[in-house]
Amino acid sequence: MSTAKKEYKRITVKSLTEMKAADQKISMLTAYDYTMAKIIDSAGVDVILVGDSASNVMAGHETTLPITLDQMIYHASSVVRATERALVVVDLPFGSYQSDPKEALRSAIRIMKESGGHTVKLEGGKEVMESIKRILNAGIPVMGHLGLTPQSIYKFGTYTVRAREEEEAAKLKKDALALEKLGCFALVLEKVPAKLAQEVAESLSIPVIGIGAGAGVDGQVLVSHDMFGMTHEFHPRFLRRYMNLYEDMGKAVSQYVSDVKSTDFPNENEQY
Ligand code: KIV
Repeated sequence: MSTAKKEYKRITVKSLTEMKAADQKISMLTAYDYTMAKIIDSAGVDVILVGDSASNVMAGHETTLPITLDQMIYHASSVVRATERALVVVDLPFGSYQSDPKEALRSAIRIMKESGGHTVKLEGGKEVMESIKRILNAGIPVMGHLGLTPQSIYKFGTYTVRAREEEEAAKLKKDALALEKLGCFALVLEKVPAKLAQEVAESLSIPVIGIGAGAGVDGQVLVSHDMFGMTHEFHPRFLRRYMNLYEDMGKAVSQYVSDVKSTDFPNENEQY
């Protein structure tokens, strides 16, 4: 395959495979609503993830577990309406795919039909292979997710780095290969040692997109509210903040309050 940088009008799962083969890094950010998705898509991000992190950043839950399939569909349909170029990946929420493959397929079909999303993502390796197979057989592209899998937080007990030990690293490598073999089009690796992530990326032909997984992978994903600095209490080492919107928006609100109280707002030009 040519290594020339290709411009894409619309990103598809095939584009991502081509990007990896051409050594072109993939950019991915989360979005959960129309306005944010519009900004992110227009600025040229390759993949928009409607993550179940909506449970945390949009709804204020402590974990990703409470968000429902209906809520994910609501967020995803808003994002899809805003998107012209990016590939839209939608998380299957906790409880919508773990119990049996038929239910997993039903959930994935609902996401595709009701939100217009382009692919689904789900967490786990060997344990969810049958569900992934069912979904793929229906022609729905699947992105895998290994390493720190937040839907299993109560099993892990903490959000610390995963697969530091040899046994867990070996399982992760095996799962990654199995996901590729099954037909997943890409894989998210969350919070694992950079060396391990690079080894996995080099061993697969599908793109590996990292979050807290170092620079040796094929692309990066961040939660948009974190990279914009809207969530000011969360500062893991892997997070680069590009703005400090928590402070800037807070200042704007204070100014607005003060302008209203002092009757500075609205002025003559701001009324009919
Ligand atoms: O839900 C989410 O935002 C995610 C990313 C952290 C990869 O799954």
